[in-house]
Amino acid sequence: MTEETKGVWAAEAPQEEPARQLYYMEECRRIVTALSEEKGRPLTANVQTFGCQMNARDSEKLLGILKEIGFQESESEEADFVLYNTCTVRDNANQRVYGRLGHVHSMKKKNPDKLIALCGCMIQEPSVVEKIKESYRFVDILFGTHNVFKLAELLYLRLTGHGMVIDVWKNAGPVVEELPVERKYPYKSGVNIMYGCDNFCTYCIVPYVRGREHSREPEEIVAEVERLAKDGVIEVMLLGQNVDSYGNKGLKEKVSFAELLRRVEKVEGIRRIRFMTSHPKDMSDELIEVMAGSEKICRHLHLPVQCGSNRLLRKMNRGYTREDYFALVDRIRKAMPDISLTTDLIVGFPGETEEDFQETLDLVRRVRYDSCFTFLYSKRTGTPAASMPYQIPKEVAQGRFDRLLKEVQEISCEMSGRDQGKTMEALVESLDDHQEGFVTGRLSNNIMVHFPGDASLIGSIVPVYLKESRGFYYLGEMVR
Ligand code: SAH
Ligand code: SF4
Ligand code: F3S
Repeated sequence: MTEETKGVWAAEAPQEEPARQLYYMEECRRIVTALSEEKGRPLTANVQTFGCQMNARDSEKLLGILKEIGFQESESEEADFVLYNTCTVRDNANQRVYGRLGHVHSMKKKNPDKLIALCGCMIQEPSVVEKIKESYRFVDILFGTHNVFKLAELLYLRLTGHGMVIDVWKNAGPVVEELPVERKYPYKSGVNIMYGCDNFCTYCIVPYVRGREHSREPEEIVAEVERLAKDGVIEVMLLGQNVDSYGNKGLKEKVSFAELLRRVEKVEGIRRIRFMTSHPKDMSDELIEVMAGSEKICRHLHLPVQCGSNRLLRKMNRGYTREDYFALVDRIRKAMPDISLTTDLIVGFPGETEEDFQETLDLVRRVRYDSCFTFLYSKRTGTPAASMPYQIPKEVAQGRFDRLLKEVQEISCEMSGRDQGKTMEALVESLDDHQEGFVTGRLSNNIMVHFPGDASLIGSIVPVYLKESRGFYYLGEMVR
């Protein structure tokens, strides 16, 4: 516990977890019940998630705790308790949070009982905590990525008169998993298989804010997937910053990612398995083999390449060359001709020349991705790339970004239409936002299809005829 939050907690609280958090949930519940009686209405909570799947999963845990405490979930930042689960991978993610804070501050002026909390990756940066302490005094609670499970305890401190509660751990502590979780979707769920990252790509802040890589024991993962399956989940997404290095660190007995997949596949009731993110330097032939032979593992692989120039790949510390990457893609496509490949690309890394950029363009033309996430390089304080020479001027980087985007969009438009006329299975995820009487489903290869249907279909897997490609999605018809 940091300096600011010493000494106020309840004496009777158990020391061991999860009993301690269950105790604090109960204590908070009492206070929240009393407050809502006073106000004559239920108290509401709103969790805003920025960043990746890891954060999305953490938010489900946070919301689970808040609901247990007695808050009603709200979609709006007008709520009595607003929690921002932040991301700091690129500066624009940070700026968005500061923007939101300005906005909720004005709401808090009208409703002084309103509570505002910040957690997640941004808060792991000491400079951010300093800035909040100085310029955003109205924030009530700050915590990081390693102690998400402690929300009830921190909220209790605040509710019992403590000032701004700050609890940020430098390193990962105990993994406390057996707490309530409020899943966003009844039929699908993320499952953490590992935490942290040890790759230290030179542009990336994740290893600094998520800590050292360690894997969860396979038995725990399988047990969680079994619990989810019993609860109606049919699709799981196994989550880690580099799932291909699963098992390398922190396990009693070494188990490879491919072996973990084999075990997860055996769980009855699970019909689809996805995972994120693969790292080209660690992807094994064993994994390709398991995927190719599996009925459940989806035909989609997100394989971030970052750029196409060997010189820059080296400076990025990615651990592979473009030739290695091409060879890997060949092996994957040979084993699974129908696989959908997607990637992440960074434009404007320090020292990037026009030739380097042309090599990236050449790479995307050769690989022909189904879709690409393209990012402008964002300088992250404390990373090696931040102090590299020849930072690229904004206009130059933006010009390249626009050219790359045009190229990848044309390719993905052609690629994603390649199954037009076929019938494929889709997991129906929701009602279609844009068309009444339609639902939206996801194909195994991650492409969406919209087709006539109603809410009763949500959560089921149905065969859909892919009538027409609309570039990034299909219009279809359910086959009965
Ligand atoms: N662990 C995953 C990615 C996590 S971050 C992996 O290695 O693939 C998601 C993506 O954000 C990265 O793939 C990268 O393309 C992008 N990214 C990370 N740091 C960045 C930075 N400083 N500037 C721009 N993009 C960045
Ligand atoms: Fe960042 Fe590289 Fe780790 Fe991905 S593998 S999280 S890009 S350091
Ligand atoms: Fe962002 Fe943290 Fe994920 S920095 S991308 S939310 S691990």
